Amino acid sequence: MTCSRVIGTGSYLPEKILTNSDLERMVDTNDEWIRSRTGICERRIAADDQFTCDLAEQASLRAIEAAGIKNTDIDLIIVATTTADQVFPSTACLLQHRLGIEGPPAFDVQAVCAGFMFALDVADKFIRTGSARCALVVGAETFSRIIDWTDRRTCILFGDGAGAVILKADNSPGILSTHIHSDGKYKDLLCVPVGVSKNYNLVQQGKAYTTMEGGEVFRWAVTAMSDIIEEALVANNMDKEQIDWLVPHQANIRIINAVGKRAKIPSEKVVITVNRHGNTSAASVPLALDEAVRDGRIVSGQYILLEGFGGGFSWGSALIKM
Ligand code: COA
Repeated sequence: MTCSRVIGTGSYLPEKILTNSDLERMVDTNDEWIRSRTGICERRIAADDQFTCDLAEQASLRAIEAAGIKNTDIDLIIVATTTADQVFPSTACLLQHRLGIEGPPAFDVQAVCAGFMFALDVADKFIRTGSARCALVVGAETFSRIIDWTDRRTCILFGDGAGAVILKADNSPGILSTHIHSDGKYKDLLCVPVGVSKNYNLVQQGKAYTTMEGGEVFRWAVTAMSDIIEEALVANNMDKEQIDWLVPHQANIRIINAVGKRAKIPSEKVVITVNRHGNTSAASVPLALDEAVRDGRIVSGQYILLEGFGGGFSWGSALIKM
């Protein structure tokens, strides 16, 4: 049976660092509050002339180099993003052109902070069904562009970045399972309530901002991210002790700690980047994965559980043998 295997990872963070003390000068907040409520110390912000595709391109080039493949070996490109460069073409098509690839399908998926898990699920299915043999899967965001920088409840949380993986067809997994879920009845708890088709005048006025019921999102995130760990373990007939690393969506250290506690996964086995990256939405999981691969924590043969959660609500997991 054909499976998909991760053969390379890459990531990119914009140069500009926005610290908590920078935010103290922008809104009524303080470093101690942000650290204790979220675990975030700093986040990266894209330059004015830097767009999501620019971040995606850098992360992709690093993943391609790590995989030791040629750009033209890629026969599927999926970009998970909430902050596409343009209404159309998709960021994936823009990225495809940058990479000098012609012909194979390239498209975006939109599941906000769970987007990378959805993209991975789709790419894995393409490979399992023989429709692709070498997929580039990217999570990339310039989330800073949909933040109200005068709203202290949201602006402290988010940052920009990109992460990418190369998946290759193989006889043995690889990706052991993916599970993705959505429940649109929670649409108003975390959203940008304007777009091209609705209230476009607010977009034109530069008021396409993220709104959030923080407490409700927090509770839901903990429940959903704990439940999908169990779902992945049951589906693979595995025990939590067999998981070498949990790579959760990096939204808030308190969410991550609560999930680890409920799932009984010790904190030494959890990859954390939220302190330095903030919440980079669809980029958060592949960014954290790449960091742990490059610093040598994640190595070949280990079992890695990736999980994401975000607006919709949408949430998902992938259990991978590296
Ligand atoms: N600095 C200082 N005070 C702040 C603040 C800030 N940046 N943001 C909110 N506050 C204030 C509130 O106004 C409130 O004041 P009040 O009691 O006088 O009304 C107080 O701090 C407590 O606010 P509360 O919302 O109860 O704090 P919290 O402990 O729930 O933490 C979040 C708020 C947003 C950090 C937390 O709810 C959270 O992380 N939720 C999940 C968000 C998330 O991850 N979203 C993305 C998911 S993909």
